[in-house]
Amino acid sequence: MENQNSKTNTASGTTERRKRIFSAIQPSGQMTLGNYLGAIRNWVDMQDEFDCIFATANLHAITVRQDPKKLRENTVNLFALLIASGVDPEKSIFFHQSMVPAHAELSWVLSTFTQFGELSRMTQFKDKSARHADNINAGLFTYPSLMAADILLYQADMVPVGDDQRQHLELTRDIAERFNGIYGKTFVVPEPYIKRNAARVRNLLDPSKKMSKSDPNTKSFILMVDEPATIMKKFRSAVTDSEACVRYAEGKDGINNLMEIYSACTGKSYEQIEDEFRGKGYGDFKTAVGEAVVAVLEPIQIRYRELLSDRKHLDEVAAKGAEAAARIAARTIEKVYKKVGLMR
Ligand code: TRP
Repeated sequence: MENQNSKTNTASGTTERRKRIFSAIQPSGQMTLGNYLGAIRNWVDMQDEFDCIFATANLHAITVRQDPKKLRENTVNLFALLIASGVDPEKSIFFHQSMVPAHAELSWVLSTFTQFGELSRMTQFKDKSARHADNINAGLFTYPSLMAADILLYQADMVPVGDDQRQHLELTRDIAERFNGIYGKTFVVPEPYIKRNAARVRNLLDPSKKMSKSDPNTKSFILMVDEPATIMKKFRSAVTDSEACVRYAEGKDGINNLMEIYSACTGKSYEQIEDEFRGKGYGDFKTAVGEAVVAVLEPIQIRYRELLSDRKHLDEVAAKGAEAAARIAARTIEKVYKKVGLMR
């Protein structure tokens, strides 16, 4: 799988290695429309251009207490949802993080090249330890070393990251450079990949906030698995403004958000959208946005349900991905253990 994917024929007839991407998503429950338009769809698009390795980050998930049955279920559901969205196991390597032990092995080594002070400065650690004050475990603290291991294990050239993970990627780069500085070139130092096709989807009731499934009001977010009727209803209750004019402008955060979503789902520019709804009310616009979102999500939901009906097949796909990932990971572990002086 790796060889078939890793070479690109260039115009001059030479072959060059395709850039490698690594990314992972935690199986922490339902995915929202924001996750889809901001990240998942980007994964799907990257597959044709890059050598992609994707995982469910289930080892990261246990840094907050999980119900075992629920975690397993969430992990399989996420795997199926991503495949239903277009992550193609024939094009990319896709697996569950826990299935490749090298993640945990490299994470341990890298944790000895990560400073207490650096980890203490991670804003996500500060946020999460405030939110889970009764369980500030060591794994929550060393989480960025595991993330660095995920990335460096595969010698990834690029990592698509949102704002919340930028600091972790920066630390990954520092760890890679530090290790390379001591032992000679061992790791590729990964660059952030700026997403080309990513929408920033806001909370439908309070567009000053990001859309998040943890918001107490379920009308503020769209889940990827929401029923079409629910999606329509949620858009109907989305906040707008009193101008009654569909145009993208400062101070119109609610309408701007709906325009962003509509644009992301239809490919139309803001200008085209303004033309389309000139003289029409917000009611018409909201209906159109809801319909556009349903048109994107419904086919995914159908494939998702199909995939989940064959659990054995999903397990086989993950096992195949894990095998391919483990082969690449083994080469890095081999090198690292040798350099550090650990026997294998
Ligand atoms: N920590 C990431 C998140 O919560 C998920 C993740 C784990 C990840 N390993 C990664 C993302 C490696 C990019 C690269 O969103």
